[in-house]
Amino acid sequence: MRTGTIAWADVTASPVYLDAATAAPLHPVARQALLAALDDGWADPDRLYSPARRARQLLDAAREATAETLGVRPDELSFTASGTTAAHAAVLGGLRGRRRAGRVLVHSAIEHSAVLYAAEQHVADGGTAVEVPVDRLGRLDLDAWSTAVAGAHVASAALIAASHEVGTVQPVEAAAAACARSACRSTSTPRRWWAGCRCRPAGRC
Ligand SMILES: Cc1ncc(COP(=O)(O)O)c(C=O)c1O
Repeated sequence: MRTGTIAWADVTASPVYLDAATAAPLHPVARQALLAALDDGWADPDRLYSPARRARQLLDAAREATAETLGVRPDELSFTASGTTAAHAAVLGGLRGRRRAGRVLVHSAIEHSAVLYAAEQHVADGGTAVEVPVDRLGRLDLDAWSTAVAGAHVASAALIAASHEVGTVQPVEAAAAACARSACRSTSTPRRWWAGCRCRPAGRC
């Protein structure tokens, strides 16, 4: 049995690698930055001694660079340990923050299971989830989405930016505009998507 890490050579040895939305070898510059951070920024960034202050500098610089790429303020950005944690924080945290608007969550039928489980949790807690259908190519039904987000007591709406099962890129900007017209809060779950696209992936309407 083979153990150990997968090298880039293993990946390129296969004819076509199609799972880049889940994982891909790091860009050489990103790899260099990561290795430098591991060597230089290993200390607890919350402490005050010099290696800790160095770690804090590196973390803050990473946050600023990421925020700039995403078009958000650095203090609006949280790093999480996994996509699932991020999706749960965005969906359940967003709903909690908008409690006064209502308890209805709108989401597409092809959200990642992390979002669907968060929606299930919300329903188990007494909230409501409205699922918006997609066509046979996985494209969101924009009319149904617009009607759903304009409904009463809608607090939040979640739309996956791009599906890594079928590769469908969703009309995130048009969906966010429908949310803006209805004053509901939209969350787009991009994971790796934003690295390759121009649109702003998430927005407060
Ligand atoms: C939109 C989205 N949410 C959540 C996840 C789950 O991420 P993780 O496996 O890091 O928990 C993924 C994984 O691909 C994802 O694409």
